[in-house]
Amino acid sequence: MSVSQRDLDAEIEAREGMTIAEIFARSGEDGFRKVESETLASLMNEEMVLATGGGTPCFGDNMDKMRAHGMVVHLATELSTALGRIEDPSTRPLLAQGEAEVKKLYDSRQPIYRRAQWNVATDGKAPEEVAAAIESGLLATGWMPEFLWSHSSAVSLGERSYPVVCESGIFDSLGALLGGLPPESSIAVITDDNVGPLYGARCIEILEGGGFRASLHQIAAGEGSKSIDVFSSLCDELIVAGLDRKSTVLALGGGVVGDLAGFVAASLYRGVRVVQVPTTILAMTDSAIGGKTGINTSHGKNLVGAFWQPSAVFADPMLLQTLPLRERRAAFGELVKYGLLDGTIFPDIEALAPKIAASELAVDDLLVSVIRRCAAVKAAIVSADERESGLRATLNLGHTVGHAIEAAAGYGTLLHGEAVGLGLIAACRVSRELGLSQGDLEARVGAVLQTAGLDTDLEAWLRDDVLARICVDKKRTGRHLNFITVKSPGQVALTPLDVDELKRILSR
Ligand SMILES: NC(=O)c1ccc[n+]([C@@H]2O[C@H](COP(=O)([O-])OP(=O)(O)OC[C@H]3O[C@@H](n4cnc5c(N)ncnc54)[C@H](O)[C@@H]3O)[C@@H](O)[C@H]2O)c1
Repeated sequence: MSVSQRDLDAEIEAREGMTIAEIFARSGEDGFRKVESETLASLMNEEMVLATGGGTPCFGDNMDKMRAHGMVVHLATELSTALGRIEDPSTRPLLAQGEAEVKKLYDSRQPIYRRAQWNVATDGKAPEEVAAAIESGLLATGWMPEFLWSHSSAVSLGERSYPVVCESGIFDSLGALLGGLPPESSIAVITDDNVGPLYGARCIEILEGGGFRASLHQIAAGEGSKSIDVFSSLCDELIVAGLDRKSTVLALGGGVVGDLAGFVAASLYRGVRVVQVPTTILAMTDSAIGGKTGINTSHGKNLVGAFWQPSAVFADPMLLQTLPLRERRAAFGELVKYGLLDGTIFPDIEALAPKIAASELAVDDLLVSVIRRCAAVKAAIVSADERESGLRATLNLGHTVGHAIEAAAGYGTLLHGEAVGLGLIAACRVSRELGLSQGDLEARVGAVLQTAGLDTDLEAWLRDDVLARICVDKKRTGRHLNFITVKSPGQVALTPLDVDELKRILSR
């Protein structure tokens, strides 16, 4: 099937009978954007591939309209690549503003671009390669019902692409949804002994209703299950249950289940399909997305594992209603991290904090929207940098000090998110001391964490044993750490930092 290819600028020029530069000269940017939105709206119900300008999704509700009517593909580029591609700068009125302004514009647009369902990395790639990546991504996820895309994101990795869906009630549709995946023989549901009694039997019923052979495999809840022993016995259990190479592992649980089940799927018969059905806020926004799987050893966390991307992530926020209060609060550590990575989410995270701390969790539009937007940030970052060679490392914001506090406290004493919250406060402080941030970011971050019910007394944790632990961070090279600094919400950077300097700042 072929569809027509159209260019929005050409459509605008034809409609107005003048060039884009002439429209800017006549009516200024506001006038141009108005014409642009009208032209876009007039094309929305036609079937076509439409190339828009870089500013199009950033004005009014254009991005919402585009998402509601089709699949939005963001051709992600570094600023330098984008500038290098412009043959005739005189045709781009916004470029006349100078380098600093263009950089500001570029940075301010990134959060909007990340709302595209597809973020496809294009740096260093020929147009044909990019087109092939988009085509194989769309083919790989073509089984997904179209209506789900208006709220979903995709991890864009060519033929290993997959949808990340967050939709209340989607758990009950799993049988039908998985039926859209390529044919398989059976599904092994791996869960833990908190989630299993709540949702295990229902999950099996739903899958059997969808025509699958399904078996339930339960592990003990908690970090201790991310071990070689549990991994080994699960592999045996799945073989005995009759799983074959075409089978699917379904991870039903938080990050512990997701990491372990993902690693089992990566290893069994040298790799079977895995579908992630996260049941914690942390897993819905972070651990279920991106394909990092693994277990712990006596030497540390996540030291053995594999990159193994799931075929889909289906998150149902209704399942969060049973999540214990402490787990919900702890999730805020990672949510605030996303608010710092993408400043446009920060105000909603601040508004969510008192709701998270309430004894009953309201699964409302705000919660669902925050989960979707954080998940979209993760999906976009993984699409750009699957193996953590650059951008993905920014997801470690708050983790250098957070990990040190978590380890020094003794694993199991603090929840991961509780330690990350303290780590974020430390990251804000270090950024300010290095002269990289202005204002009261530390106070703002502390306030939102406190409202969510987390410990924010960093001083109490800056003990010698914590400072000593910073030196054993696994992401350290030599005497230098790649510390993630934050200038303001939405502006983070990898900053090489001497370990002693970091310790000096923190012990002041
Ligand atoms: N793979 C990644 O990229 C990545 C990223 C971040 C964290 N992680 C890993 O994630 C793990 C932490 O994940 P987590 O915070 O989800 O913890 P978790 O999986 O231990 O779940 C937290 C607790 O909540 C219970 N639970 C889960 N969902 C529930 C529900 N809906 N109702 C009632 N109880 C429920 C669990 O049984 C458990 O006791 C760590 O092992 C961490 O290393 C992985």
